[in-house]
Amino acid sequence: MAVLDILTYPDPRLKQVSAPVTDFDEALRAFVADLEETMRAGPGGVGIAAPQVGEFRRIVIVDVSAKPKTPNHGRLVLVNPEILEWDGMVKGREGCLSVPDFTGNVIRAARIRLRAQDEHGEAREYEMEGYEARAVQHEIDHLDGLLFLDRLVSKRHDLFRRKVYAK
Ligand code: NI
Repeated sequence: MAVLDILTYPDPRLKQVSAPVTDFDEALRAFVADLEETMRAGPGGVGIAAPQVGEFRRIVIVDVSAKPKTPNHGRLVLVNPEILEWDGMVKGREGCLSVPDFTGNVIRAARIRLRAQDEHGEAREYEMEGYEARAVQHEIDHLDGLLFLDRLVSKRHDLFRRKVYAK
């Protein structure tokens, strides 16, 4: 396994649209393992999308189980994910491994119904809400070349520089 390099804003490759996965083979599972290790090595570490490491394939990993009192499905490998239903709207703060210096307030659906394949090609459906639903929507945006920066209502009011602590 390996921790992969993360593309950061304003790298133009982050705007690329990723292609569906068709081969559910050992190479895919090896890549998923590297992607997960990269996610867990990063600050925050609740989600990552393949294009963030320069692999333009529709694969995301989300795991919000470390966040207290958040309903969740644990570790999720979502291949070719598709949101089937959206419900409610809620504004919340997001960060991104590809935008290390900022966080932002973004409006997302409060609840979603999602269909995705796992790393073996098994199709599953999920109902999710709250922070997990937000994380999944954020990661799926990466597959379509979108960052949370693209969804800010107001750059002046909803974009925040991360605090840097002096040594
Ligand atoms: Ni992100």
